[in-house]
Amino acid sequence: MLACALVTLDQAIALIQGGELVAIPTETVYGLAANALDAEAVAKIFAKKQRPTFHPLILHESSAERAFSHVKQVPTEAYQLARMFWPGPLTLVLEKAEHVPLVVTGGMSTLAIRVPRHPLTLELIGRAGVPVAAPSANAFGKVSPTTADHVRESLDVPVLDGGPCGVGLESTILGWTGNHFRLLRLGGLSVEAIEQVVGEIEKPAHQKSVAPGMLESHYQPTTRLRLREPGRLPTSNDIALLTLEILSPSGNLEEAAANFFDVLRRLDNSGAKEIWADLMPETGLGRAINDRLTRACH
Ligand code: TXA
Ligand code: MG
Repeated sequence: MLACALVTLDQAIALIQGGELVAIPTETVYGLAANALDAEAVAKIFAKKQRPTFHPLILHESSAERAFSHVKQVPTEAYQLARMFWPGPLTLVLEKAEHVPLVVTGGMSTLAIRVPRHPLTLELIGRAGVPVAAPSANAFGKVSPTTADHVRESLDVPVLDGGPCGVGLESTILGWTGNHFRLLRLGGLSVEAIEQVVGEIEKPAHQKSVAPGMLESHYQPTTRLRLREPGRLPTSNDIALLTLEILSPSGNLEEAAANFFDVLRRLDNSGAKEIWADLMPETGLGRAINDRLTRACH
């Protein structure tokens, strides 16, 4: 098969079953998928992405019941969240069941699970008959892909094209403390929506993500990106602006999230020497966009 080829669903299923990699669409970002129960196949993900160490991966399943079969215990709150938000942009970290290879979790005893909301990927997992482990399908530390073309720009892997991602930011990650859920990464499901279902969750004091493998710098474009001093106008044509109005003319934070990584890539490729970005309002998905923006600064 040609490097970087677009593949059909049948071909993607055959690749997964054959222990190979394939990039798959989800509602958040494209993922670089392998059979999560095949340790050698999962190891190929780390090699392809050039992740420096074995950062834990998310296991994706086609139903909540199947997702929960890969962890030891499921708290009531997890069932409540799954009923409301799966399939969707939410990842839950619980105690790993024995049969899941340790390479998926980077050696940790906990496992991140989620049911993605994309019909092609749900069918792929269902028909392949195995869960897939998948990080975002970009080279390590770079901007996450929200279209098949984004994947093809940065990785040489077969891609299942499912169109642009509807949510556009990675999933929100919650970890179970044994007693309540704790926010590990801001993402495509707002904290407000989660708290309506399970009440207040524990949040890190400094509003930064704390999942292992989350680095201070991440999601970086090549062009220098910095936060704009409020109201300051560009002093030359070499400076591109990234504002809420550019991400969503009507100021809708969900639309802004869906456009965020694509706009960041376009500005990165525009020839500008610097990108000046505005922080979004600290509410709903604005918080997750701000998290990504802060990490993309350099
Ligand atoms: O929306 C998403 O979550 C996308 C799509 C493809 O599903 N995936 C994604 O994967 O963003 P990745 O590998 O780029 O980020 C996974 C995050 C990492 O920050 C990792 O630290 C966290 O999940 N994670 C995975 N397993 C964990 C665990 N056992 N405990 C804590 N955090 C974990
Ligand atoms: Mg990533």
